[in-house]
Amino acid sequence: MKLAVLTSGGDAPGMNAAIRAVVRRSIYDGIEIFGVSHGFHGLIQGRLQAMQRGSVADIIHRGGTILRSARSQEFLTDEGQERALAQLSRYQVQGLVVIGGDGSLRGALSLARLGLPVAVVPATIDNDMFGTDSCIGFDTAINTVIQAVDRLRDTATSHERVFVVETMGRDAGFLALTAGLAGGAETILVPEVPWDLEVICQRLLRGLERGKVHSIIVVAEGAASGAEIARRVIEATGLDTRLTVLGHTQRGGTPTAHDRVLGSRLGQRAVELMLEKKTAHMVGMQAGMDTAVRLSDVIDKRPRLDGRLYELAQVLAI
Ligand code: F6P
Repeated sequence: MKLAVLTSGGDAPGMNAAIRAVVRRSIYDGIEIFGVSHGFHGLIQGRLQAMQRGSVADIIHRGGTILRSARSQEFLTDEGQERALAQLSRYQVQGLVVIGGDGSLRGALSLARLGLPVAVVPATIDNDMFGTDSCIGFDTAINTVIQAVDRLRDTATSHERVFVVETMGRDAGFLALTAGLAGGAETILVPEVPWDLEVICQRLLRGLERGKVHSIIVVAEGAASGAEIARRVIEATGLDTRLTVLGHTQRGGTPTAHDRVLGSRLGQRAVELMLEKKTAHMVGMQAGMDTAVRLSDVIDKRPRLDGRLYELAQVLAI
C-alpha cells in the first residue's frame, strides 16, 4: 500500500507530531509513505517525497510543520483537483492523510468525492471543527495567549492601565474564551455571545470606584477589532488603555505535551482508518476516546461554544 500525507491551511503546533505518527505508523505496517510539501498547492505541483523513519526524527517538539503549508486557490477549482489526483496516481498513491483545519477538511472531501480514500486529522488553533473535543494546536495556543496575558497583567498593574488583548480564532471564540478564563481576564468578547460595550465600560468605571485600577479585556478577532474596542474604551471612560494584538505569535512555538500526544494518537489513527478501508472520515477525540466521523456529516457543522464556561468566566471576573 502507498499513502501520502500533507499539512494544509494555517499551521498549528503539534502538526509535526501528527506527521511523525502518520509516517512511523505507516512504516510499522509496511506501507510506503510520501510527504507532500506545501499542502494542496504542492500536491497539484507533484511535490511528493518518500519518507523514512529518519525523515521525522527530532520533530515531535517543534512547532510549525516540516511539510510546510499553504492556502491554495487553484485547488478550489475542478481542474486543480483533477491535477492533484493525477499527481497521486503518478506515484501510485492509494490514499491521502490531510492534517489541517476546516478548509483542509473541505479539500479532502472534494478528493474523496472524486474517489480518493482520505482521512483528516483536525489541526487548528481555532478549535472550530465539529466532531472532536480538541484540535491539534489549540492547547498550545491557549498557553501562548495566557503567557502573554500574565505578562500584560504585570505591566497593567504597575501602570494602572486597561489592556485590550486581541486573539485569533477566525470567526470562533474558543481560543479567546478558554485563554481569557485561564488568564483571569475581566472581560471576554467572543462572536458567539452578544455584548454591549457601554455596559462593559460602566463596569470598568464601577471597578475604578471600588479601587480596581487595572483590567484585561480579551477580544476574539471574530468579535471585534481590538483597536476599535481600545478606541471606544478610551472614548467612554478616559482610562489609560493599551492594545496588544497577539497575531501569529499564537500559531508558533513548542507544542505542549497535550498537543504532542493528541497529534501522535490522531496521526496513527488516521493510518488505521486507511488500513480498515474506512475512507472520508475525520479522526478525533470525544470524552477521551478516539473517534472517527464521516466528513460529509461534519462539513457544515460548527461546534458550540460552551455557555457554562462563558458564564463561569463572567462570574469569576466580578
Ligand atoms: O485558522 C487559523 C488562523 O490563525 C485564524 O485564527 C486566523 O484568522 C487565520 O488563520 C490567519 O490566517 P493567515 O495566516 O493566512 O493570515
